[in-house]
Amino acid sequence: MQKSLLGWTLFLALLERSVLCPIRISPQVLVVEYGSVAHANCSALEKHQGMGWESTHGSVGVTPGVSFLLWTVEQLKTWDITPQCFINLAAGDQCSQDLHVVVYKPPDNVSIVPVGPMDEGKTYSISCDIRNVAPAQNFTTKWYNGQTLLFEDELKVFSKDDKKTQNATSKIQVTPSRADDGKQYRCVVQLDLGREGPQPPPNVSSQAMAITVHYSPFLLRPEEEIVMISQGAEATLNCTAVGNPPPGYTWTSSTSEGSKSDQKGLLRSSEPGNYTCTASNKIGSVKKLFIIKHHDRTVFWAIIGGFLGLAVVIVATYGVIRMRAGPNSVI
Ligand SMILES: *[C@@H]1O[C@H](CO)[C@@H](O)[C@H](O)[C@H]1NC(C)=O
Ligand SMILES: *[C@@H]1O[C@H](CO)[C@@H](O)[C@H](O)[C@H]1NC(C)=O
Ligand SMILES: *[C@@H]1O[C@H](CO)[C@@H](O)[C@H](O)[C@H]1NC(C)=O
Ligand SMILES: *[C@@H]1O[C@H](CO)[C@@H](O)[C@H](O)[C@H]1NC(C)=O
Ligand SMILES: *[C@@H]1O[C@H](CO)[C@@H](O)[C@H](O)[C@H]1NC(C)=O
Ligand SMILES: *[C@@H]1O[C@H](CO)[C@@H](O)[C@H](O)[C@H]1NC(C)=O
Ligand SMILES: *[C@@H]1O[C@H](CO)[C@@H](O)[C@H](O)[C@H]1NC(C)=O
Repeated sequence: MQKSLLGWTLFLALLERSVLCPIRISPQVLVVEYGSVAHANCSALEKHQGMGWESTHGSVGVTPGVSFLLWTVEQLKTWDITPQCFINLAAGDQCSQDLHVVVYKPPDNVSIVPVGPMDEGKTYSISCDIRNVAPAQNFTTKWYNGQTLLFEDELKVFSKDDKKTQNATSKIQVTPSRADDGKQYRCVVQLDLGREGPQPPPNVSSQAMAITVHYSPFLLRPEEEIVMISQGAEATLNCTAVGNPPPGYTWTSSTSEGSKSDQKGLLRSSEPGNYTCTASNKIGSVKKLFIIKHHDRTVFWAIIGGFLGLAVVIVATYGVIRMRAGPNSVI
C-alpha cells in the first residue's frame, strides 16, 4: 500500500514536471569523454518569453523567440556538472530541467605487476594497476590467460558519488599447473557507460605478462626398460625428463658402487645389470629403472644343433639305402 502510494507520488511528480515544464532536452543523459566537446539541445514545447541554460560552464542567457537552444562546451574539463535548461512562461512562471551528464575517462595506464617464478600447485595473487579512470562505478576489469577469460572484476570499492578519476588495483588468485608455464596473462579495463555511452565500450589493455611455473620432473616413458645388447656392445640409456627448472640426473647401478651424475640424462654402458636413474630439481624427483641384458645364446645354439642333427640323419639314411641297393643301382 505504502509502496504504491510512493509510486503514485513519483509518477505524479514526473508528470507534473513534464506537463508543467514544457521543455525537452536531447539527449536525456549526456555521456561525454573528459576534455572533449559536449552539447545538448533544449527544445521549447510551448510559447515562451525566453529560455536559457544555467551552468558552471557554457551558460546561455535568457533568449526570447527561439524554439530550441543549444548548450555547448568545447572542452569539458570538469567531473561534476549539471546544466539546467530553463524557460520563462507567459504567466511569469519559470521552470527548468536538469541535464544528467556523465563524464568519463579511459585509464591512462593499465599494467600488470610482474611476478617471479611460481611453484606448481601453490596459490599466488597477480595485481593489475589502473591509473586515472572515471567514473569509478562504471568500469570492469577482465582477466585473460591467452584468449581465455578467467575473471571479471567489478571492483565496486569507491563511493559512487566520487566522479573524479581514481586509481584502482584488481587482483586475481591463480594456482598454476605445469601446463600454465609460459602462458600470458593480461588485464583489460572496460568502461561500461550504458546505451548512451560510446559503442563499442572503450577498453584499455595491459601488457601481456608470461608466467614461469616451476614443477617436478616427469618422464615421457616412466615404465622400466629392458635393453638387450650383444656381448661387448654398448647400450645408451635415455632418462630424459621434463621439468622446470631442468632436472639434474644421478645414476646408480647394481654392478658398481657409488653414483654418477650428468646433465642430459644419458648413460652408456656395456655391463649387464640394473641401472636406476633419478631426475630431480628443487621441486621434486622421479626414478626410472633400466635393465641391461645380454642376448640369450641358448636359443641360437639350439637351432644350430637341430640343423646339424638333421643333416647327420639324412647322410646316414642315404648311406644305408645306397648299401642296400647294391653297386649297379643308379642311386
Ligand atoms: C534541436 O531540436 C529541435 C527539435 O526539438 C530540432 O528541430 C533542431 O534541429 C535541433 N537542433 C540541433 C542543432 O540539433
Ligand atoms: C604504464 O605503467 C607501467 C608500469 O608502471 C610503465 O612501465 C609504462 O611505461 C606505463 N605506460 C604508459 C603508457 O604510461
Ligand atoms: C593515482 O596515481 C598517480 C600516480 O601514482 C598519482 O599521481 C595520483 O594522484 C593518483 N590519484 C589518486 C586519485 O589517488
Ligand atoms: C554506467 O553509466 C551509465 C550512464 O550513467 C549508467 O546508465 C549505467 O547504469 C552505469 N553502469 C554501471 C554498470 O554502473
Ligand atoms: C577492446 O576494444 C577493441 C576495439 O573496439 C575490440 O576489438 C576488442 O574486442 C575489445 N577487447 C575487449 C577485451 O573487450
Ligand atoms: C631421449 O628421449 C627423449 C624423449 O624421451 C628424446 O626427445 C631424446 O631425443 C632422446 N635422446 C637421445 C640421445 O636419444
Ligand atoms: C633388477 O630389477 C629386477 C626388477 O625390479 C629385480 O627383479 C632384480 O632382482 C634386480 N636385480 C638386481 C641385481 O638388483
